[in-house]
Formats: sequence, structure tokens, C-alpha cells
Amino acid sequence: MGTAALNLDLDGIQGLVSRGYREQPSACFVLLGMGDEAGRWVRDVEVTSAAARPTGDAVNLALTATGLAKLGAPLGGFPAEFVQGMVTPHRSRLLGDEGDGAPAGWAWGGPSTPTVDAGLLLYARDDASLAALYEAHRRRWTEHGLVEVGKLDTTDLDGFEPFGFRDGVSQPVIEGLSKTGPAWNTVRAGEFVLGYPNEYGLYTGGKAFSHGVGRNGSYLVIRQLAQDVAGFRRFLEQATSDPAEQTRLAAKMVGRWPSGAPLALSPNEDDPALADANDFGYFDEDPYGFKCPIGAHVRRANPRDSLDPQPGSASSIAVGKRHRLLRRGREYEHGLHFLCLNANISRQFEFIQHTWINNPHFAGLHDEPDPLVSPSAGAAFRIPAEPVRRRVTGLPRFVTVRGGGYFFLPGVRALRSFGA
Ligand code: HEM
Repeated sequence: MGTAALNLDLDGIQGLVSRGYREQPSACFVLLGMGDEAGRWVRDVEVTSAAARPTGDAVNLALTATGLAKLGAPLGGFPAEFVQGMVTPHRSRLLGDEGDGAPAGWAWGGPSTPTVDAGLLLYARDDASLAALYEAHRRRWTEHGLVEVGKLDTTDLDGFEPFGFRDGVSQPVIEGLSKTGPAWNTVRAGEFVLGYPNEYGLYTGGKAFSHGVGRNGSYLVIRQLAQDVAGFRRFLEQATSDPAEQTRLAAKMVGRWPSGAPLALSPNEDDPALADANDFGYFDEDPYGFKCPIGAHVRRANPRDSLDPQPGSASSIAVGKRHRLLRRGREYEHGLHFLCLNANISRQFEFIQHTWINNPHFAGLHDEPDPLVSPSAGAAFRIPAEPVRRRVTGLPRFVTVRGGGYFFLPGVRALRSFGA
């Protein structure tokens, strides 16, 4: 651990960076439009810091580029993808937001829906406390002329996503913030928080910016991902009539079993004892994907030690560490409100979505984007096996984007200064 690791300013960082608020299973994300008096509101919102260990409510506040502009904050140092936002023709192509998932049809964040200036993230121990927290905040933002333009409600599925798989298992360990973890999975704080060295040994966003308004901030990506659960079930049933084989096929697509157990460690059957297991690579144990297919969701979203140019080497792991995400999503009735934090949206979230998830040629594959979450329908999925491999073709689209936005989760002091 470097010395910077010991000096993370936990009081100055918003809490979502350090925890997913599992002790607060009730949550909603309120999307707000700002008027002229928003500054005072922003200044007065009491956000939960990374130093806190909340047992009751938790509150975090994120701002979009339009929100920052309305507050009079200088946008100069912010990167282009954040300033332009998630919805530009170039970005829609890059992210695969086309056809049914095109922004024109989005419920929020699209070209024909009201501008989102802020995202207020509310967390509570139970639904009654959440309702009270929401009401208290609603009164305050209304007094200050803000308007609710969307509300993302969530459903507590006890850690499982709607397709039936445990979610939120694998996360990077942030050096100096979380406890400890294996070296391959321990990532420098600057990959997630501005103002600290990143995996290049540099300050993400530049030294001046990351020590100025950027300090202790992070970028928050929100995507409302509708899941076609009935379509997913139908697809599995059409592939095989044996329920155990259906689970097996689904697990091959995910790369983990429903309990969370990784196929890389338990290739033949689910093993709940391995539900939290995360200390494994692919190169030594499973170079050809006989256990966990190369194209499986988790193997492409985080290839671990199997990246070019030298899979299995320290440099492969070093490359992987430059493309990690802190996932903070929550389920809702029909899908996943995908939330992730990163210090560089383009190098982390967009790269993973475009170059790994959507890419039909990922790791030398052919016509195989992510079988679970890719936006393209009709693609193939190959399950390497001996003696006979299996290739499923004509995969339907199971996940469709319904809304989204790029937000900045400012450091606590920057938040106050924006509101001043
Ligand atoms: C509705 C859509 C999605 C579903 C149902 C889904 C489901 C899952 C599941 C079941 C896991 C395994 C459990 C875990 O490690 O937490 C997982 C892991 C992961 N997913 Fe997704 N996911 C979705 C969308 C996405 C998107 C859009 C991204 C990135 C752009 C993404 C990135 C990841 C990453 C990085 C991991 C961890 C991989 C690892 O470190 O081994 N997921 N997802």
C-alpha cells in the first residue's frame, strides 16, 4: 500500500463510494430539475460521508452537467463525455442505445423528457422510513423550486437480480478504503475517487482539477435496464426441457450459478458454499472457457488475468485494473437500476460496455456479444466443452435501456461550494 492510501479523506467523500448501503435495503433515486434557488438547497442537503457507518437513513447527492451549470460551477475541467451527457448520436452508437433502447423512447434522461439536473439517492432501513425520508426531502426541494422529473423506485430482492442470480458479489477493493483483498483485485483509489493516484500513477482528470473542484468526487453512471424475465425463461425452456439443464445454460451465460458460486471454481454444479468466492483468475485454470465460457457476462465484464497482450501475466492484471467499476445498482420490479462509480467514464464504464459487453469479437470470439445484457438480438453464444462444444444461436435481447444519465458525485466540500 502506498502512503496516499493512508490519507483518504473519508469525511470529504460521499458514502456511496465506500459502501453499497446493504443495511439500508429500501432505496429510491429521485431525479430533479433545478430552478434559480437550487444553490441553497444543494448546500443544505446533509449527505452521508464515507466515514459514516449509518444504521438508519443515508443520503447522497449527484449532479449532472446541466445541474452544475445552473449552480454556476465551472465546467472547464470536466471531461467531454460528462459535459455532453449520455445522449449524443456518437455515444448512443458506442453504448448500443439503438432500436428499442434508443434514447427517444426513454422514460427519463432522453431527448424528449425533462432535463435532469440532480439525482438524490435516498436509502433507509425499511419502506416506512424511506417514505418519511422522501417526504422530508420533497418538502425541502419543493421550497427551493426544484421539480421532481423522475423517481426510480427499487425492490429488495434480497441480493438477487430479476433473472434469479445473486448480484453484487464481485467488487474491486479500493486501496486504503476497504479492508484488504488479493493484490489482483486491489485497485488504487484514483480509479474511483478524484484527487488520489490511479493505476497509471497519475491523478485522474489532471492534477489541478482533481485537487480542485474534482477532489473527493466520483462519476456516477445510472442506467435503467429493463429485464425481459419471461423472455429469458422462454429462451431457456426452448433450449432444453430439463430444468437442471436450463439452470446450467443460464449459469454459463452469467458465469456464476444462481447462488453466486463462480463457474471458474465450481464448473459442474451450484455450490452455495462458494457464493461469495471471488479470488480466482481464468488463465491458469480455464484458458479455453471449458468451465466459464469466454463470452459469459462476468468473464467479459471483468476478464481478470486473461487480457492481451500477455494473458496470465502481471501486465494482464495491470491492464484489467484500468477498467474496473464499483457497482451500486438496485433491483426494481422489472429490472435493474444499474449504478456504477468510476473516475473516468470513458475509460471505465463506456469501455466495458462498448469494448467488452457489446463487442461481438471480444477475445477473438465471432458474432458473440454478451449473452445476458448485450443490446443486440440474434447473436450467438458458444459454450466450449469437451468432447462437444455447444453453440446457441439467435439469442433474443433480454435487457433494454429505459433511461440513463451521467452524474458527478462531488466531494462533500465541493458540494457546499457549488451551493454557495
Ligand atoms: C440487467 C442487466 C444486468 C444483469 C442482470 C447483470 C447481472 C450480473 C450478475 C448476476 C453478476 C454476477 C454477480 C456479481 O459478481 O455481482 C454480474 C457481475 C458483473 N456485472 Fe453485470 N449485470 C447487468 C448489467 C451489467 C452492465 C451494464 C455492466 C457494465 C457495463 C455490468 C458489469 C458487471 C461487472 C463488472 C460484474 C463483475 C464481474 C467480476 O468482477 O467478476 N453488468 N452482473
